[in-house]
Amino acid sequence: MKLLVTGGAGFMGSYFVKYVLRQKPEWEVITLDKLTYAGDTSKLDQALEDPRHTFIEGDITDGQHMEEIVSHYSVDVIVNFAAETHVDNSIEEADPFIRTNITGVHTLLEIANKYGIRMLQISTDEVYGSIEEGYSDERAAFRPNNPYSASKASADLLCRAYYQTYGVDVVRTHSCNIFGPYQHEEKFIPKCVRHILKGEHLQLHGDGLNVREWLYVEDHARAVLLVLEESEAGDVYNIGSYDELTNREMEIKILERMGKDPSWIQYTEDRQGNDRRYGLDSSKVRDLGWEPQISFEEGLTRAVNWYAERLNPKR
Ligand SMILES: NC(=O)c1ccc[n+]([C@@H]2O[C@H](COP(=O)([O-])OP(=O)(O)OC[C@H]3O[C@@H](n4cnc5c(N)ncnc54)[C@H](O)[C@@H]3O)[C@@H](O)[C@H]2O)c1
Repeated sequence: MKLLVTGGAGFMGSYFVKYVLRQKPEWEVITLDKLTYAGDTSKLDQALEDPRHTFIEGDITDGQHMEEIVSHYSVDVIVNFAAETHVDNSIEEADPFIRTNITGVHTLLEIANKYGIRMLQISTDEVYGSIEEGYSDERAAFRPNNPYSASKASADLLCRAYYQTYGVDVVRTHSCNIFGPYQHEEKFIPKCVRHILKGEHLQLHGDGLNVREWLYVEDHARAVLLVLEESEAGDVYNIGSYDELTNREMEIKILERMGKDPSWIQYTEDRQGNDRRYGLDSSKVRDLGWEPQISFEEGLTRAVNWYAERLNPKR
């Protein structure tokens, strides 16, 4: 099996590449990444030395280059993690999100169709929009509320349409908030750790009661590989943990791990388009035999310790 993992030098993609190489000794992996500010080949660490792994710098919107790769390496499956991923950036400037998250996915779908290969698209719980209670299953309507989630939802719809219209073997996953070491510093947990290291208050937007569901990154990689192997064309799977926390609870847990109390929290104005709660019904992927193996508390300790050792408080 030859896998092309796009966006594989990012946070979640790099874990997936390393996990596949460990689990599947007979598989080959080609990682393609544009190496934007969020991508870094060092995240791939031991995979860079593996003879079954090739790294290529490239852009998923470059159809000609993508096609050359698929044809040259006789790729069997494209797993697409590549995206612009930071909601705040999408509010500042949506253009790169439209280009990579929509046009890029369209480019990959065209190639999957032309070469008759499978594609797995990594999407997000944010496409379902805010739900105050209950859980969104895979049939829930899309109600994205910010440019990032709208771009991801658009890609999901293109995937659905390419399956319905052309019969492309495309599968999608919607993941909750993923966390662990190697995440870009702009994201919630590393950002909190850096503020604490600098001796600064933690900002908490609005009333701090927005709820997110958190899953450790290695458990996510396990779920994606399982879905890749067990799913059928057109399938959709939610990947969630049921570990729901308000942003205030999350900040308190990070502060606790760094020996600080809640007085370090400072309330600030709410963010634009800040959804109240996401909640995934992940029973479908659990029916395949998956469940998280790393508890939320253990995962958070690992992540906080990792960032506390590495982040530079002077920046
Ligand atoms: N992190 C989360 O909590 C979360 C939750 C649900 C879904 N997702 C989705 O999972 C995927 C991976 O997220 P992540 O947290 O690892 O993001 P990330 O920002 O860490 O990584 C994204 C990677 O994509 C690369 N990239 C960006 N534009 C590209 C392009 N045009 N061509 C090729 N590569 C490009 C970047 O260089 C980077 O390496 C994304 O599709 C994201 O929408 C993330």
